[in-house]
Amino acid sequence: MRVLLIGATGNVGLRLCSALLTHGHTVIAYVRSTSKLESALPRDAFTRLTVVNGDAMDANAIKSAILDHSCDAVVNASGLAALAPWGSSTLPAIVSAVLKAAGEAGEVQKRPLRVWVLGGMTALHYPGTQKPLASYLPIFREHVGNLALLKSIPSETIEWSMLCPMTMVPETENVAFPLKSSRGKLVASRDIPPNFNNSVLKYIPLIGGTLHLMTNASRYETSLEQNADLIAEDLETRESKFIGAAVGIIDPAR
Ligand SMILES: NC(=O)c1ccc[n+]([C@@H]2O[C@H](COP(=O)([O-])OP(=O)(O)OC[C@H]3O[C@@H](n4cnc5c(N)ncnc54)[C@H](OP(=O)(O)O)[C@@H]3O)[C@@H](O)[C@H]2O)c1
Repeated sequence: MRVLLIGATGNVGLRLCSALLTHGHTVIAYVRSTSKLESALPRDAFTRLTVVNGDAMDANAIKSAILDHSCDAVVNASGLAALAPWGSSTLPAIVSAVLKAAGEAGEVQKRPLRVWVLGGMTALHYPGTQKPLASYLPIFREHVGNLALLKSIPSETIEWSMLCPMTMVPETENVAFPLKSSRGKLVASRDIPPNFNNSVLKYIPLIGGTLHLMTNASRYETSLEQNADLIAEDLETRESKFIGAAVGIIDPAR
């Protein structure tokens, strides 16, 4: 696919550059600083990219980038959710601009764009309920709002997915190209964390759900490389099982 990658200079974005190229995609990297991108990527990877400069809150500039480069897909790795429930960041404004741009560009191209947005684990449902994990552990709540925005979009407008990782760690400090992961493929599921361990803790009044979640949380650490590979592999086909879903992931080795 022809992929507009927004936030290519970030932790996830840099691995996505490498992963998307490794999976044979054409990558248009949308960044604020070309020199930052160039200095963080292996030369072989950087020279294969087309770079567009712009701000991720500028819907018109993103729409132009999609149309100028005839993109089929957009991946948003820009912005960073606020940790504390009282915190705020530019992430909601970024996601809103990206979705507006992708929706309008899809109308012009007469085909909905495939869109991946980075979210976080607390946007997933607590298994067996329709409540987000953020109701039990109120951190990174901005992802919950972004997911609600995605769900409000008519399905014929954008074919979206939100990747919902817990902490992601680098496997190597320098980004490798082609992308390699020594950790293997992630197991993924729609809307809930896969392989969530059951526990009697959940029956404790008031704090049971929170304790249950906290005993599970550390099992959900994955690597940046694994996550980038999942998105890049998924974009090899339009027939994704993750369209219209928040995607929970776990490293089966953990
Ligand atoms: N890292 C984790 O462990 C983790 C875990 C779960 C979820 N997530 C989510 O994954 C996403 C990416 O995380 P990350 O760790 O890769 O973040 P990061 O390293 O802080 O990268 C953020 C990226 O956003 C770009 N950006 C920010 N504001 C922008 C703007 N107005 N216009 C254009 N670009 C802008 C930054 O560009 P500059 O280089 O120009 O500043 C950078 O490329 C976030 O939504 C985060 O909440 C991360």
